[in-house]
Amino acid sequence: MIISHISLTNFRNYGRLDMEVGPSVNVIYGNNAQGKTNIIEAISVGSSVTSHRTTKDKEMIKFGQNEFIVELLCHDEVYGSDISLKSAYYGENSFFNTKSGYRRELMQDGILIPKISRYIGTCNTVIFAPEDLNLVKGAPVSRRKYLNLLISKVSPSYYDLLGNTKRIIDQKNACLKSFRGRMDPSRANELDYWDYALADLSSELILERLRYCSMISRKASLHHSVISDGKEVLKAEYSTITGSEALIRGMLEEDGMFDEFVSQTLSGDILARIKASLSEHILNKLTGARTFDVERGISSVGVHRDDIDMTLNGLSMRQYSSQGQQRSASLALKLAELEIIRERTGSSPILLLDDVFSELDEGRRISLLAGMSSAQIFITCTDRAFVENRLPGVITDDVDTRFYRVDSGEVFPE
Ligand SMILES: Nc1ncnc2c1ncn2[C@@H]1O[C@H](COP(=O)(O)OP(=O)(O)OP(=O)(O)O)[C@@H](O)[C@H]1O
Ligand SMILES: [Mg+2]
Repeated sequence: MIISHISLTNFRNYGRLDMEVGPSVNVIYGNNAQGKTNIIEAISVGSSVTSHRTTKDKEMIKFGQNEFIVELLCHDEVYGSDISLKSAYYGENSFFNTKSGYRRELMQDGILIPKISRYIGTCNTVIFAPEDLNLVKGAPVSRRKYLNLLISKVSPSYYDLLGNTKRIIDQKNACLKSFRGRMDPSRANELDYWDYALADLSSELILERLRYCSMISRKASLHHSVISDGKEVLKAEYSTITGSEALIRGMLEEDGMFDEFVSQTLSGDILARIKASLSEHILNKLTGARTFDVERGISSVGVHRDDIDMTLNGLSMRQYSSQGQQRSASLALKLAELEIIRERTGSSPILLLDDVFSELDEGRRISLLAGMSSAQIFITCTDRAFVENRLPGVITDDVDTRFYRVDSGEVFPE
């Protein structure tokens, strides 16, 4: 998929923007705070609904306005067809909103798409941005967001599963709080209800996350090894409800079936058996934590606490890594994402490179460039010459490279 046109209404510092873009390399340059990252963010919101900078959609509405609208015109090279995507957010006072509260609207070719899961994945993008460092140093929520978005781009059902699980966790938490710190045995059946539902959904979620984390770990390790000249061994290991991974591996590895599990070629009944055992294991963990959870009014055990444990030569990266090591590891994770999407969907995602070249040294730039073949690319930078000089092999005479200068929320094609 490639984007041919971007149109923004009241998005960040753009009142109205209509921008034709090229099929290969698009360089967006300009001084600080002019609106370069805002364009990258808008493409991400138009394609994957999520921003890499905020979880609060409202923040992206232009100051003083009531809604934002991002529209992307895309071209599907495989089918030769054009697709229009619209991702809009209408605030409470928006003319387009008759409800109280905000309204999100997603459309494809003018038809309302009721589920986010059916929208994500039509036009895949992968973003490389300074915020990627949070993948290594940040709180677990950054890594869960990375994992959730990656899997949702290749598996719509995962996004639905995630939404259902979150809903049950919220409902269980509300139930726990209503106990006001003291167990009431006559209401144990309420918690049983939520725990059964959670055990069932969480087992499915854990299997998906373990599958993708295994892919990520292998790919990111390889990339990291290249970036670090083979000096460092990166491991990115899935961390979830205690004992779950050991149980799954125990059931698969004695028959050498772990690779089949990862590549989704494992037979359905083996998978169903694993899921049933895992579900039982999770239920035991949830009920085991019940007294503690009722006292505190929270869920101390569950997939909402999952993480990816990153280590470098056996040392925890969150605690011991240097800035350079964090850059390399976060780049390795993003390159793994790019490859997984490419392999799973059969087409190259669009690359959004926000200000990354100024941050990376020669070696890491080369690693990034090597992974970028044959995709549409959007690059932001402050200095046009910097990109021209530093992207050998990407910006060459036979690549259609377009330059856009951004100045105070206006874009000037050059
Ligand atoms: N909701 C909003 N409404 C209006 N303007 C906004 C909004 N959010 C951010 N801005 C403005 O957008 C500008 C920042 O845009 P952006 O982050 O795209 O800059 P940039 O060109 O990428 O700069 P840098 O080179 O520093 O990364 C700032 O001037 C900021 O005040
Ligand atoms: Mg920026």
